Amino acid sequence: MTPRILAFAGSLRRESFNKKLVRIAANAARDAGAEVALIDLEDYPLPLFDQDLEAEQGMPGNGAKLKQIFIDHDGLLVASPEYNTSITADLKNAIDWVSRPAPCEPPLAAFRGKVAALMSASPGALGGLRGLVHLRSILGNIGVVVLPDQIAVARAHEAFRANGSLTDPKQQEGIDTLGRTLASFLMKIKA
Ligand code: FNR
Repeated sequence: MTPRILAFAGSLRRESFNKKLVRIAANAARDAGAEVALIDLEDYPLPLFDQDLEAEQGMPGNGAKLKQIFIDHDGLLVASPEYNTSITADLKNAIDWVSRPAPCEPPLAAFRGKVAALMSASPGALGGLRGLVHLRSILGNIGVVVLPDQIAVARAHEAFRANGSLTDPKQQEGIDTLGRTLASFLMKIKA
């Protein structure tokens, strides 16, 4: 069965390096035979999670839409910026909303059993690597199998060509391989 992968960046920024990065991995996963949906979290604006708001108004429409998209996919390709050594508030907020169970639904239905591959890009020297430590921990603790392979692209402001590819062929191959690895892993476990 063709694996379905959801690809997105943890940044809302229009010229986001992480949006560029996840696009490369998404194309590679598609070329490897997966069905890939590349989405932009900017298209699903959500209020800051608040349990009172949830109790009074329920899941916002965009939260429900986003959660259904997660449920409909087997794998996650995530490129996360590092903000103050962790993930962005936007990404955490999306995870928090999507993690909320509907009545009579098993907990963490949108995450449990999914497989994820992680990457990051930052103008800094570590490429956002410290944020990936947190993201790996968060996703692992909500039931996602996170592949050991990951890539952090440092000096991201110099790393991309105008056409969106990476200037360093090794890095380009690394991101391509990450996308392909997720696709082939999902094909194996779904066979
Ligand atoms: C940053 N940035 C940053 N970079 C980094 O390598 N380590 C860090 O801890 C931080 N912290 C941080 C905090 C805040 C509030 C902002 C706005 C930025 C820089 C960040 O990597 C840079 O803005 C990237 O370009 C963000 O990713 P996108 O939007 O280009 O994908």
